[in-house]
Amino acid sequence: MLTRVALLACLAAVCAAKPLVARSMQLHEVRDEVPDGFVHSGAAPQDTVLNLRLALVQSDTAGLQKALMDVSTPSSALYGQHLTKEEVEKFVAPSADSVAAVNAWFAENGITAKTVSPAGDWLSFSIPVSQANDLLDADFSVFTHQETGQTSIRTLAYSIPADLKEHVDLVHPTITFPNPFARLPAMVAPPKAKPAVNVTSDAVPASCSSTITPACLQALYGIPTTPATVSSNQLAVSGFIEQFANQADLRTFLSTLRPDLPATTTFTLQTLDGGQNPQAASEAGVEANLDIQYTIGVATKVPTTFISVGENFHDGALEGFLDIINFLLGETAPPQVLTTSYGQNENTISRALANNLCNAYAQLGARGTSILFASGDGGVAGSQSSRCTTFLPTFPSGCPFMTSVGATTGVPETSASFSSGGFSNFFAQPSYQASAVSTFLTALGNTNSGKFNRSGRAFPDIAAQGDNVEIFVGGESGLVGGTSCSSPIFASVISLLNDELAAVGKPPLGFLNPFLYSTGAAALNDITTGSNPGCNTNGFPARAGWDPDRCRLMMGKVEHHAK
Ligand SMILES: *[C@@H]1O[C@H](CO)[C@@H](O)[C@H](O)[C@H]1NC(C)=O
Ligand SMILES: *[C@@H]1O[C@H](CO)[C@@H](O)[C@H](O)[C@H]1NC(C)=O
Repeated sequence: MLTRVALLACLAAVCAAKPLVARSMQLHEVRDEVPDGFVHSGAAPQDTVLNLRLALVQSDTAGLQKALMDVSTPSSALYGQHLTKEEVEKFVAPSADSVAAVNAWFAENGITAKTVSPAGDWLSFSIPVSQANDLLDADFSVFTHQETGQTSIRTLAYSIPADLKEHVDLVHPTITFPNPFARLPAMVAPPKAKPAVNVTSDAVPASCSSTITPACLQALYGIPTTPATVSSNQLAVSGFIEQFANQADLRTFLSTLRPDLPATTTFTLQTLDGGQNPQAASEAGVEANLDIQYTIGVATKVPTTFISVGENFHDGALEGFLDIINFLLGETAPPQVLTTSYGQNENTISRALANNLCNAYAQLGARGTSILFASGDGGVAGSQSSRCTTFLPTFPSGCPFMTSVGATTGVPETSASFSSGGFSNFFAQPSYQASAVSTFLTALGNTNSGKFNRSGRAFPDIAAQGDNVEIFVGGESGLVGGTSCSSPIFASVISLLNDELAAVGKPPLGFLNPFLYSTGAAALNDITTGSNPGCNTNGFPARAGWDPDRCRLMMGKVEHHAK
């Protein structure tokens, strides 16, 4: 509510952009230190326009999370009864009071905001640095990432009017930093021996020890080559940071490694935030090609969409993660599987933003979508440049409402040493993994004590092949490694299972974790060797049962359990 003085001032000045009486402000979010690798390099130019977003407090987060667990837990009477768009939005939509209070604050400051999420919980607005500093009691400055030279405008703290505390979740980008270390897989020398193609028996060809192809995955995991039949069963692949999926490379990949499939088998393109998918051979992205070749080439005939998210509204931080989920939440029939091979260190993100994004995964999960992310390629250290006294979990793998996919290597499989796994510092351990993780922690004893948070959500949830994977980029074949390989491979398996379920009129698997840690666990093959070293330790060892290196999947058996 405006004070009388402010109201008079407002009338006199025909509502000047800046109220004359400052509201009492309260610190909302603060970062104790600049993230590793960044330096403060001066004040931001006062007239630079910032594209900011504000998240309103959602009306019933606990209700949404309970609904998600109810539809995703095999023993629940509501298992598989996924929510509609409207049912999810009811939990998420902010109260009318919150909308009114925040709009009044914006109006007082001459700000026009736009709604950017289907439930109305996210608003976007653009204001110059000078106004943002006044509005939020902030100190927007330039931070330079030393190794890459990339600059970002951020503040280490900001405030909001004290009376808006119960209405505002967060303002972004403020204390969240982008991830210049986003590791993308690099291609290495092409395989020398002839790779496995078109395998007809269950035996895993010898060449799979050095080169992974779709035929190796079919033999290892019992993945069928028969085409999927249900057109409403969709698989979506996220594309960020100008990684483009090349059609000609996909044709070469299919004609070489899936000769039983028409080489014209392809994906649908969806763009947002000014995203593109140019087709020059020189613009083919290793990550995008990998993700598309190991979905189209493994999830035989499952309708697949490549979603290319552009950079119109952001600087490589997490707005793209938010926009892709809000875009899918706006659809009446979102894809049943979404795979994403990008992520960043958990400690670069504000807790409020991490929570908000995690809750967005809960929303899409409640609609029946399986959300898979690669766990990261830095072992227990995450993407750290130098200093490393404690393990660094990755985001969003610490979020309990998505499925984190780690990597294995070799035949027989062992856990891949680069595969990130560990324990979140932001999110507490969810009940679905309590028993599996407690068994692991007991066996671990005091190893790595003090270097990780024993009460945090443990990840990854599953692992699949992620090393020496053959792909085509710019017409050339080569090998790549990383959990980036594992996520699309696992996504393909889930999509094929969903196809079989849909064919007999059953709902998709949806949010997978409660199933993976209960009835679905019997279908997993336990990986008991290897570890994920980092920070001058051996990391976490693989053992019998759940461990941060996880296990692999046998398709035939999961199928049995899913039915
Ligand atoms: C692949 O295997 C199928 C039978 O499973 C066979 O009909 C086809 O000719 C094979 N293709 C190649 C290129 O070997
Ligand atoms: C450890 O995890 C818990 C549960 O998520 C969290 O509340 C706590 O802040 C974490 N501790 C540290 C030091 O990050």
